[in-house]
Amino acid sequence: MGDNNKSQEHHKKLSSWEQMNATQQRPSTLSLRNFLTWFFFIISMLYILYSSNLLLTNERQDCSSMEESLGELLPLTNSSSTSLPINPKQENSQIMLPGTSRRFDTELKHIVFGIAASANLWEQRKEYIKQWWRPRVTRGVVWLDKPVKTRRNEGLPEIKISGNTSRFPYTNRQGRRSALRISRVVAETVRLGMKDVRWFVMGDDDTVFVVDNVVRVLAKYDHRQFYYVGSSSESHVQNIFFSYAMAYGGGGFAISYPLAKALAKMQDQCLHRYPGLYGSDDRIQACMAELGVPLTREAGFHQYDVYGNLLGLLAAHPVAPLVSLHHLDVVDPIFPRMNRPRALQRLFQSIKLDSASIMQQSICYDNKRRWSISVSWGYVVQILRGVVSPRELEMPTRTFLNWYRRADYTAYAFNTRPVTKHPCQKPFIFYMNTVRYDRGKKQTVGIYSRHKASHPYCRWKMDSPAAVDTIVVFKRPENLRWQRSPRRDCCKVLPSSKRSTMYLSVGNCRDGEISVLQQL
Ligand SMILES: *[C@@H]1O[C@H](CO)[C@@H](O)[C@H](O)[C@H]1NC(C)=O
Ligand SMILES: *[C@@H]1O[C@H](CO)[C@@H](O)[C@H](O)[C@H]1NC(C)=O
Repeated sequence: MGDNNKSQEHHKKLSSWEQMNATQQRPSTLSLRNFLTWFFFIISMLYILYSSNLLLTNERQDCSSMEESLGELLPLTNSSSTSLPINPKQENSQIMLPGTSRRFDTELKHIVFGIAASANLWEQRKEYIKQWWRPRVTRGVVWLDKPVKTRRNEGLPEIKISGNTSRFPYTNRQGRRSALRISRVVAETVRLGMKDVRWFVMGDDDTVFVVDNVVRVLAKYDHRQFYYVGSSSESHVQNIFFSYAMAYGGGGFAISYPLAKALAKMQDQCLHRYPGLYGSDDRIQACMAELGVPLTREAGFHQYDVYGNLLGLLAAHPVAPLVSLHHLDVVDPIFPRMNRPRALQRLFQSIKLDSASIMQQSICYDNKRRWSISVSWGYVVQILRGVVSPRELEMPTRTFLNWYRRADYTAYAFNTRPVTKHPCQKPFIFYMNTVRYDRGKKQTVGIYSRHKASHPYCRWKMDSPAAVDTIVVFKRPENLRWQRSPRRDCCKVLPSSKRSTMYLSVGNCRDGEISVLQQL
């Protein structure tokens, strides 16, 4: 996780896995000998099935006789234990599902971050942490393998050195032993004995958190109970290879206080039982499985096991708060022609003004010019010629490659759509440039500038979005949006006197408002 080699190792692992697959799929010529072998094999399978079926029916008989004897036993127990609660109030409290029907007053101060880092990448990776860390506000510790040079007032979390893990077995040939150290980050953070903690959140040194959204997500759950919250990989194959039940460590995950205590108590023994696992997060999941705690999925944690341009994913984010971004070294800078930390800084301009709405999509149409408009608030606006329906626009475009650097639509654990090849349908992209808050009107004003890319010649007899070079987006910040049911925002094209500037307003959909082109 904290290792630069990790991604390469994932890579290596997959290619060997694929080779394995390939050998399995090797075509074979069916000879007579093969045929005979199959014939006898099928006959013997049929025989086995037949006899086991007999066995099964016998067992079923055994079962039913046991049920009968249970039935005889039941009336002997006290009737009050079988009849259900007498007190209707009690009954109510049992029906209410914890974590879903109410919120807890969890605040940032209740959350402690444990960041897994390595000394050799520290100078580079600390720039990512600086983007989201709030000195003297966020609580947490960076865990390193060796001491590093530090400067004062760098605005970084406290640094600690992880405990020695040489006593733990590690036998995975593709992975690295550092997985053991990183796997113990949560437990080691628990052992610091910090007060008034409700959640431990684990992340890598190249994970960027939107901390207010971490709070919004965790406040839904009862921190006094056992919760393991996170998300899978975008890569279907990675999820098959590791587990769909595992929270990917790079995307970050949260463990409630009592569960973290329980994990800290058993993890060191647990680590001895899984020497063959690859990473740190699969080791955590193995221990979670022993504890019997399933993964609670939250769509805003992003492992981002992809290469190339994240635009497709970030322009069509699920209707859920954006919690984390990962692998920012692997993907292109999120704003083009800028270094990675600078690009993040720009995104954080928007996050600071309306963190709950960052990357929230809204879809509307320019009725006069017959354009489709998709906004990812705080990040990008895209204009397409013609009418593209919301069900398509809310599906991520494959602007990125999969974890094995291929453009393969079967690679993902969610729906995607291809980058269009039609010369008229190439989107015009406007990246967020600056954003400020207008106190008088109580709204944010974002300026989005057209990304200068070449567009192929289009024969369609309609206005070209190339005439627009600036889009101004107005939106009121909405801190409490995630306390209501999830819904996309609506957007609207406002009148403009200049052809080169488009004005959009983004916000709650009004009564009866839907995303559809109005026939004029
Ligand atoms: C059975 O329930 C009654 C109350 O309904 C209680 O007084 C009694 O002690 C119980 N007996 C046992 C064996 O639990
Ligand atoms: C860890 O412990 C082993 C033996 O217990 C020792 O040989 C090794 O030097 C230790 N490593 C560190 C970094 O202290």
